[in-house]
Amino acid sequence: MNYNFDNTVNRTNTSCIKWDFLNAFFGEKELHAMWVADMDFKTPPEILRPIEERAAHGVFGYTAKSDDFYTAVISWFKKRYDWDIKKDWIVTTPGVVPALNLAMREFTEKGDGVIIQSPVYFPFKDSVELNNRKLLDNSLLLRNGRYEIDWSDLEKKAESAKMFLFCSPHNPVSRVWTVQELEQLGDLCNKHDLLVFSDEIHADIIFKPHKHIPTAEINNTLANRTIAAYATSKTFNLAGLQLSVNIIPNDTVRERFKLTLERLHLTMSNIFGIVGTQAAYEHGEQWLDELLIYLWQNYIRVKNYLRDNIPEITVIEPEGTYLLWLDCRKLEMSDEELAAFFVQKAGLALTNGIMFGPGGGGFMRMNIGCPQSSIIKGLESIKKAMADDSPLLVGAGPSNAPDDC
Ligand SMILES: Cc1ncc(COP(=O)(O)O)c(C=O)c1O
Repeated sequence: MNYNFDNTVNRTNTSCIKWDFLNAFFGEKELHAMWVADMDFKTPPEILRPIEERAAHGVFGYTAKSDDFYTAVISWFKKRYDWDIKKDWIVTTPGVVPALNLAMREFTEKGDGVIIQSPVYFPFKDSVELNNRKLLDNSLLLRNGRYEIDWSDLEKKAESAKMFLFCSPHNPVSRVWTVQELEQLGDLCNKHDLLVFSDEIHADIIFKPHKHIPTAEINNTLANRTIAAYATSKTFNLAGLQLSVNIIPNDTVRERFKLTLERLHLTMSNIFGIVGTQAAYEHGEQWLDELLIYLWQNYIRVKNYLRDNIPEITVIEPEGTYLLWLDCRKLEMSDEELAAFFVQKAGLALTNGIMFGPGGGGFMRMNIGCPQSSIIKGLESIKKAMADDSPLLVGAGPSNAPDDC
């Protein structure tokens, strides 16, 4: 191993949401934070160095993306997903959620149906509602410890929908969709002429033997109707740099999407977003391969610890993402009690499963993108909480999460 993921970095007083805004979101300052979907690791030196060099240059004028930027994106997609993309297909935005909202506003009208698959990353639902579209929830089914698409319900919902918001890999249930599932989805979206926004921000965090299949690679059906959103933000912990890479193979869809960006003058990017993204795609591979091994070990640590010490809580085996989906239903608590239990008794900030919509009740999301010492601390705090039979103050403080974390 070339990189040491055991190093801890003190993130307090850096304006980071995960550690500095606990009080605002949990009504408690002294919590151990395993919630917001970023990692506690430093970005690798191969990315840090170019950013530092660019900062040391000292002039931060208007900046465009060079050919090298696009070459870096293209070769990463070839190497990591075996997908040949063209330079023209690449459109950058200041994040995935902004891209999702722009697409929804451009390609649908008020009142149009938009499908999501709960439990899912909560800005999906928020985007549909904030844009006054009609929410059509095709909830996922949990069968034998693994989430699946409810195809017959999807077929029904698709009849009155214009757009489908797909999460691939899926946050929070950590599914990596198979080629068979994507092909079936493609036939369905094609039949009902749906525009697909495929959020693939977690595409690099995949555990073997699973493999990320780009949605827009599914020819004849999805390639022509998909806006696929990628980024280095999750993979290399660069979320604060705010740059995402959207791949849009269809000329008409892409031109319309670009026009909305131009109207809002959003085509330029932050200088450090450009430098960081390019460096990550050019030089980040080795670090990522080691990160994936470390994250898997973190998962095993959580699974074994729960099995041996807290059998009332189990974990859904992740196929991708660094977000674990903890099944706490055997604790037989209401969602309010569950939230209060983790904050008050464990001193632990997790994301409440219910925030991800129907099907999230009784679950909690735990972020394992952190050193193992942090994992152990989190697990020990849950064990301690299980032995504490003092009464809970249900509904005592805010237990919501920031808009898009
Ligand atoms: C599925 C998914 N999409 C998008 C985002 C955020 O994307 P961005 O910060 O680029 O808007 C997250 C962050 O947690 C996420 O999990």
